[in-house]
Amino acid sequence: MANVLLGVCASVAIYKSCDIIRELTKKGHQVRVIMTPASASLISPTLFSSLCDFPAYVDWSLDPLAHINLPRWCDAFLIAPCSINTISKIALGIGDNLLTSSILAHSGKLLIAPAANTQMLKKPIIKKHLRLLSKFATIIDPQEGQLVCKEYGEGKLAPTELICSYVERAVSSQTLKNKRFLIALGATEEPIDSVRVISNLSSGKMGIEIARQLWLRGADIQIVAGKTSMPVPKEFKTHHIRTSSEMLKALLELSKDADCLIMPAAVSDFRPKIKSSKKIERSNSLILELEPTQDIISTIRMQYKDLFILGFALEEPENIYSRAKQKLNEKNLNAIVANTTSSIGSERIDGFLLTTMEKIDLKGPKEDAAKVIASWLEKKLGAEGI
Ligand SMILES: Cc1cc2nc3c(=O)[nH]c(=O)nc-3n(C[C@H](O)[C@H](O)[C@H](O)COP(=O)(O)O)c2cc1C
Repeated sequence: MANVLLGVCASVAIYKSCDIIRELTKKGHQVRVIMTPASASLISPTLFSSLCDFPAYVDWSLDPLAHINLPRWCDAFLIAPCSINTISKIALGIGDNLLTSSILAHSGKLLIAPAANTQMLKKPIIKKHLRLLSKFATIIDPQEGQLVCKEYGEGKLAPTELICSYVERAVSSQTLKNKRFLIALGATEEPIDSVRVISNLSSGKMGIEIARQLWLRGADIQIVAGKTSMPVPKEFKTHHIRTSSEMLKALLELSKDADCLIMPAAVSDFRPKIKSSKKIERSNSLILELEPTQDIISTIRMQYKDLFILGFALEEPENIYSRAKQKLNEKNLNAIVANTTSSIGSERIDGFLLTTMEKIDLKGPKEDAAKVIASWLEKKLGAEGI
């Protein structure tokens, strides 16, 4: 597990750094803390010492070379919460306390999670400083919400879980660094009239879990998302679409910059031939004429012959294997994940990953299946892959 150095500034969000320490230690990481002198007037260093089982540093009294030794010790250096004051000092190369001096002496992975009042963050000089910092550090953007100062706006420290995911990513072996994954997920919606659609039960969970696992391994992720029953995490660049033709258009465009396309999206196979621009009135019966939508994956394969494509198929259990094999061959996919119809909208998957050479069972929580799929992709596309 990794050594994480946590820098803590004098922000109203300081109490959240206690949760960050607990989360990181729960995951098996060792955490050491440097507090700015101003932050030590908000919370006693004793609290941080007890949480990470190691004295919290505020100055050089524990080690006259602390600003060199602590950055050398760590695998990742996280500043959370980072005040506007410290952001500006880092941007200007000022080292006037143990935290800012240690940042100057640090050459490894640096993550900065700002927290501040919206007006403070909006100042052009602060925006400029944050842009400078983003050239050598990962900025974990503050989020919008009700701030302690009673204003509503951007400035809340990012959620603990998200900050810890960024740390996990930074300390991972980054086997998929610089690999670009394009993931289509969620349900498409085909309009019947101005208020009704043909859609399906997809939640988007399988795609989100795969994206998360690949991202933790250092991959770049772009998402094309239809309707999902859970929010797509903010760390992924996401293009929202509604219809299957919008999804196709987005994927055709984005595939040119992708190394791999993954398609757990539930794309409508049919759409109404005619869409009413007004709400159709209630009547005794309504006959809808449907036409097939374009086959997205086959269209993309025609245009991008070398793209690594992992398709998905949702099938009835009795013919799942033969259908998966047929789709794998007919659509010229590198691999296909076939799952039974019980998997749609569910927390669990029941299926398998199939190539011309192998079959890997995927049965259980989608999070676990995503780990298996990501490890398999790592073997195929990572630094060690073919
Ligand atoms: C209770 C309290 C809450 C504060 N919250 C924030 C904050 O969330 N963000 C921020 O940039 N400054 C905040 N400040 C102002 C900073 O503490 C101040 O700029 C200080 O000089 C920062 O010092 P440091 O960067 O060395 O920790 C707060 C001050 C106090 C007293």
